[in-house]
Amino acid sequence: MHTLPPRPVYSDEEEGTWRLLHDRQTDKLASAACRPVLDGLRLAGFEGQRIPSLRTLSANLQRLTGWQLTRVEGLVAERPFFELVASRRFPATDFIRKRKDLDYTPAPDLFHDQFGHVPLLTLPTFCRFFQRFGLAGQGADDDAVEALARIYWFTVEFGLIRQDGELKAFGAGLVSSIGELDHALSPSVTVHPFDLDAMAARPFVTTEIQADYFEVPSFEALEQAFDAWAVARGLLPPEAAKPYE
Ligand SMILES: [Fe+2]
Repeated sequence: MHTLPPRPVYSDEEEGTWRLLHDRQTDKLASAACRPVLDGLRLAGFEGQRIPSLRTLSANLQRLTGWQLTRVEGLVAERPFFELVASRRFPATDFIRKRKDLDYTPAPDLFHDQFGHVPLLTLPTFCRFFQRFGLAGQGADDDAVEALARIYWFTVEFGLIRQDGELKAFGAGLVSSIGELDHALSPSVTVHPFDLDAMAARPFVTTEIQADYFEVPSFEALEQAFDAWAVARGLLPPEAAKPYE
């Protein structure tokens, strides 16, 4: 059994940073996020006014979907990242950005990793897609790694989903950032139709706000299309395309 370190002792200022981010984002997400993100925020064990505990979130995920969190110091390189998600473990930091970086943090912190990513790890369909993503990455050559990184960017980080005819956010980079969220749902961006080949062919920039987004019709469609995409490229064996038991 994988063990997580205990919850760090956070300063009053750090707890205050969490409350500011949490309260502001929660108000916004009520209308901007898709239902599974809102449900996931309730199910995962966030305590609202207090910085969450990786142990609590991880235990709840394990009960709900079999996923666990593992603590990391920062960004994880692609290949170790594939290994982790293939074994249903998501790497998360447990430090919070400085107050001066409230609106933008160049490197992921716990608000991004936990508040942004954990909600969808309560959703079985998304978890199946994500594990397949990791499995596909394990045998990928450099070109396929690049294609997977782009698919990840345009779904897991900045994905939009059509819900009852309206675009809603599900990507962690949107869920955890008020500026990105407002921008992505504004008329000033281009939202492309769901197409994994088009995602895989589109470079992205990490240093500027996005101009291009993709919508997915549903998480089931994402799961099925990704399986077909990865099998067609020899990244997953054909039998892996069968539904999970
Ligand atoms: Fe992220």
